[in-house]
Amino acid sequence: MDSDFDISAKAGLTDRGYARMAPFVWPRNDRRRGGRFFGAGQFHTADGRGVMIAVTPRASQAPDAAFPFRLNTGRIRDQWHTMTRTSLSSRLSQHLAEPFLEIHPADAARLGLAPAALAEVCNDHGCAILRVLVTDRVAVGHPFAPMHWTGETAPSGRVDALVPGLTDPVSGQPASKSASVAIRPFAARWYGYAIARSAFRPDCAYWARAALPGGMQAELAGLDTPADWAAAARDLFGVAGDPLVVDDAARGLHRLAFLRDGLLQAALFIGPAPVALSRRHLGGLLGQAAGPAALAGRAGADVPDPGVALCACFNVGVNTITRAVTEQGLMTVEAIGEALRAGTNCGSCRPEIRALIAQNVPFREAAE
Ligand code: FES
Repeated sequence: MDSDFDISAKAGLTDRGYARMAPFVWPRNDRRRGGRFFGAGQFHTADGRGVMIAVTPRASQAPDAAFPFRLNTGRIRDQWHTMTRTSLSSRLSQHLAEPFLEIHPADAARLGLAPAALAEVCNDHGCAILRVLVTDRVAVGHPFAPMHWTGETAPSGRVDALVPGLTDPVSGQPASKSASVAIRPFAARWYGYAIARSAFRPDCAYWARAALPGGMQAELAGLDTPADWAAAARDLFGVAGDPLVVDDAARGLHRLAFLRDGLLQAALFIGPAPVALSRRHLGGLLGQAAGPAALAGRAGADVPDPGVALCACFNVGVNTITRAVTEQGLMTVEAIGEALRAGTNCGSCRPEIRALIAQNVPFREAAE
């Protein structure tokens, strides 16, 4: 039986042809061009019948006093595998821009983990540092972390560092759903947020970078505090010159912006806690005329902040949708779609729109 993933018709493809290649449906060989597997109600086996294979699971280490949590890992809606292509899309990256740990409120309270803090997740294999997302979507004792981030995008947020080397003897599938881990707050000395028109690679205990429409952003956290933040920012961005600066060393607050010909090239915001800013507003300033007001980190009070993009297809922010619910009284996913287009293309944001409606209209039934 040949492989179902057979694209041998493309074997002679040149680099130029690859660069110009349009998407196509596989398989693509001298006998088949696309079509649906299993569409005729049969499996991809010689006789078309399914083959059931009995296996004896090799149990991974059970949770114990040292590693009391069972870590589930998996996908999120915006990214694919290790993000080699999806991370190039700034729009996809704006929804969830860094690796995270979904943890039940009871576990978070017991561990002293606040929302948006960083958690250190460890076991005998290694450690990962992940942004805390407190939610009852996961069960007590069963946190979840996404699998997509790599050394290129978040070297300290890789969950493969935690997954034991156990693989299924037939499929080769790793035991990526059941690592036993310990979790504790990550004791960062400082937190940061950076944006720049050119790509940059931070060098601190935690960082996660993502594409912006006009450049790149990174979430940062460190254990060592630079003596000179302006020098550290010049190193980080590879720029020269004096930035605009707001410093409050006593409170550990530092804000720096680099301009060229009056246009914003890069900015760094540092604080003693996870940095609260309008990331969408700041990202939109890159390459634009800017001045000291950029260091405010948010738009003026008269400009509504759309918030983090919830609908990637139409770039509709979570605050925009919330306002449509609370101020315009839109109570269904369809009504939101009609007014804002959110949820009307691929539909993958519809569950989150529904959850937002339910969250903001507690006494009325949210229906799709
Ligand atoms: S993310 Fe595709 S329709 Fe919203």
